[in-house]
Amino acid sequence: MTTRYRVEYALKTHRRDQFIEWVKGLLAVPFVLYSQPTGVIGDDTNIAKMAEEAHRRYAEIMRDVEMMIDDHIARQKQNQLQVQDGAANLLPTVPSKLGMLVPTVGPFFTRLPLEAAFKYQDRKRYISSRRYVAPSFNDVRLVLNSAQTMAVTGGALQLATFDGDVTLYDDGESLEPSSPIIPRLLDLLRKNIKIGIVTAAGYTGADRYYERLHGLLDAIAESPDLDNTQKHSIVIMGGEANYLFEFDLSSPYRLAPVPRQRWLTPEMAAWSEADIRALLDVAESALRDCVRTMNLPATVLRKDRAVGIIPTDPSVRIARESLEETVLVVQRILELSSLGSSLQVAGTAGTGRRGVPFCAFNGGRDVFVDIGDKSWGVTVCQQWFGRGGGVIRGENTLHVGDQFLSAGSNDFKARSVGTTAWIASPAETVELLDELADLMQKKLS
Ligand code: IMP
Ligand code: MG
Repeated sequence: MTTRYRVEYALKTHRRDQFIEWVKGLLAVPFVLYSQPTGVIGDDTNIAKMAEEAHRRYAEIMRDVEMMIDDHIARQKQNQLQVQDGAANLLPTVPSKLGMLVPTVGPFFTRLPLEAAFKYQDRKRYISSRRYVAPSFNDVRLVLNSAQTMAVTGGALQLATFDGDVTLYDDGESLEPSSPIIPRLLDLLRKNIKIGIVTAAGYTGADRYYERLHGLLDAIAESPDLDNTQKHSIVIMGGEANYLFEFDLSSPYRLAPVPRQRWLTPEMAAWSEADIRALLDVAESALRDCVRTMNLPATVLRKDRAVGIIPTDPSVRIARESLEETVLVVQRILELSSLGSSLQVAGTAGTGRRGVPFCAFNGGRDVFVDIGDKSWGVTVCQQWFGRGGGVIRGENTLHVGDQFLSAGSNDFKARSVGTTAWIASPAETVELLDELADLMQKKLS
């Protein structure tokens, strides 16, 4: 890595979503050309005209991006067919125009109705009426979420997976009975949609998950209108991809652990215990080095399938920069050790890299290195609920989470196996679930 590259990488790329930034850049042009910052307050006619024109231009851009994604999907399919035919080495794979413009863009599992989604969000957020603030990262993120929601309703959605902290409850908190998320999750179960809670929080016993999720688990157990199958349509995947619990009415914790041999995928079963231990040993020593060199007010916490640093005094926050530096250092040391690979995610043809997949991430107050990542965790849910009828596919899966930056974020990995929605708080999860329910209702009637 040259110094320039390292600085660019460490300072920028992992803190930006390049696709969202690119769309934001496209929308900035009509904003600059059509916004009327000099307009006088009370001049409603002119402001309305400006908003109408900006709306038309923004919507056109979103339609153009929508069509570029269609082209990208068509090429994605073509390339997959070539791989299946064994012709991948003979024929060059042609990147899409979108792939050339945004090289980090990942796979799309569904088309995205961006124009319709923009119109929906513009009605909610009055993006086109703004004269001083251009369409922002959050505007684009929410448009993408709406488009993804529109794409999976109409019968496609079979599995919804949710991250825990920041998605279902505030960081470090629990899902209390009063949470507005609970009735909305029950509603998904009532519609025969399966639920996976795919959280990095890694505990070996059901009691700790019950502590974090009791509001939801009790509500499911006590619900008079969910049938037995619907009640058993939820699993908890803890430690990203390490501990699976199924719903169990007879347990005081409403959950029963499922032995690994019942759910590990063949690839996961091949990760040896010795390799896992060796990887965690290297990660632990890298974390200790970071604590020492940056004099972090942190304690190292070693678990059976993870190692992390947590604040020694829970009331003290470790600086964000220190947490990010720790993630990047540990990730690099593990990659160099060849014991681990953070690029080997589920659902891809493989990167040719060896070693146990791991995920190093900044949890906001702590840093953890977990064995596996959420791409494996969501894959296990897809297989678990697909039993009998095959695996639930990426286009029928929606993962909702808050961590989607490319490095140091754990929900990001789920993008390789299903569609995703990027929320910023539990309140946004509520809005997303309402949007989903509304669309399902409309498409039914
Ligand atoms: P998530 O947002 O539900 O994925 O949870 C992430 C948070 O879980 C982390 O920031 C940690 O505070 C906490 N956590 C507890 N145990 C573990 C573990 O074993 N691995 C990773 N995170 C853990
Ligand atoms: Mg989270």
